[in-house]
Amino acid sequence: MRAADIADDLTDVLVTEEQIAAKLEELAAQVAHDYEGKDLLLVGVLKGAVMVMADFSRALPMLVPIDWMAVSSYGTGTRSSGVVQIRKDLDTDLHGKHVLIIEDIIDSGLTLSWLLENFASRGAASVEVLALLRKPDAMKVHVECRYVGFDIPSDFVVGYGLDYAEKYRNLRDVAVLAPHVYS
Ligand code: XMP
Ligand code: MG
Repeated sequence: MRAADIADDLTDVLVTEEQIAAKLEELAAQVAHDYEGKDLLLVGVLKGAVMVMADFSRALPMLVPIDWMAVSSYGTGTRSSGVVQIRKDLDTDLHGKHVLIIEDIIDSGLTLSWLLENFASRGAASVEVLALLRKPDAMKVHVECRYVGFDIPSDFVVGYGLDYAEKYRNLRDVAVLAPHVYS
């Protein structure tokens, strides 16, 4: 896609690459402090969290194992339903681990609340969440998220790992998708 065509599909840039990098450095310092001496495991939720994981994990001033989970939360287009199916499970036994789930975005919160319960039932010592973005006005269930990058309005956003129909993930910034693209 040409740059001009991409720009046509987007309205505002909400968070820039530079703002993301600075925020992840800040969160990494906090996490390193909070988990000092603990058996920390980062779990990324595929595919949206790939960029956050890559940048956040490298900002951490410590060695840490990384695992991935792929889930699909059934829904159509831009809405999630809360019915979650595991597409790729973890490779790691969670017993005694302090799990930090790395997410791109909390929208309704339905996917995360399901994941939190699922991980707790596998014997993790603790389960916390780091999300780059959160849409406070869209949340349908309360999810405790210890580390949040940016609270944003409820518009559908893409870029920095976030997609619409598998497109726009490799954009560097987070931008609002123009409604004409999906309506
Ligand atoms: P929920 O609603 O369960 O969100 O908190 C689960 C997943 O839905 C995706 N999601 C988005 N993807 N732009 C996207 O590209 C968005 O604005 C958006 N809102 C939700 C995302 O994968 C999230 O983990
Ligand atoms: Mg996701």
